[in-house]
Amino acid sequence: MFARWFYISTSRLDEIDTEECIREIVNVSIPRNRSLEVTGALLFTGRNFVQYLEGTPTAIEELKASILQDPRHENVRTIASGEYSHRRFVTWSLAYAGPSQFVANIVDRASEDALQGSGEQIEALAQLLAEFSIRGRS
Ligand SMILES: Cc1cc2nc3c(=O)[nH]c(=O)nc-3n(C[C@H](O)[C@H](O)[C@H](O)COP(=O)(O)O)c2cc1C
Repeated sequence: MFARWFYISTSRLDEIDTEECIREIVNVSIPRNRSLEVTGALLFTGRNFVQYLEGTPTAIEELKASILQDPRHENVRTIASGEYSHRRFVTWSLAYAGPSQFVANIVDRASEDALQGSGEQIEALAQLLAEFSIRGRS
């Protein structure tokens, strides 16, 4: 049985060196997620992060503890969490959407719907993440 944690948070990154900060997050995340056998996707809209993580319950709890106290974001709101029957992502990947206001707006709107909505809207947002993801980047 897998566990997942799907959340949205608000970025606290300085606009001046956003790219560099994201790079740092990715450089730490890829080896750590791989060693914990965690897969998923991280999407950055320029305002918000949307992240889907999946793995063993222990691994997800360990990562969650780190991510929750990370000062690079705030207002972390869980969209979905807990046991889940299967893995959706083959690798952990970064789906970076920052430079596109169009994409950012679509994702922000879908995130708000998922936060307030049903399983269907949660799945729709997860699917959006999967489609944006750069496959094989873990
Ligand atoms: C939005 C966001 C997403 C993150 N995602 C991951 C992740 O998937 N895996 C990871 O190891 N660290 C991730 N991090 C970094 C962790 O918060 C943390 O800095 C890092 O894992 C090192 O953990 P430690 O400070 O407990 O040693 C993320 C940080 C942010 C701000």
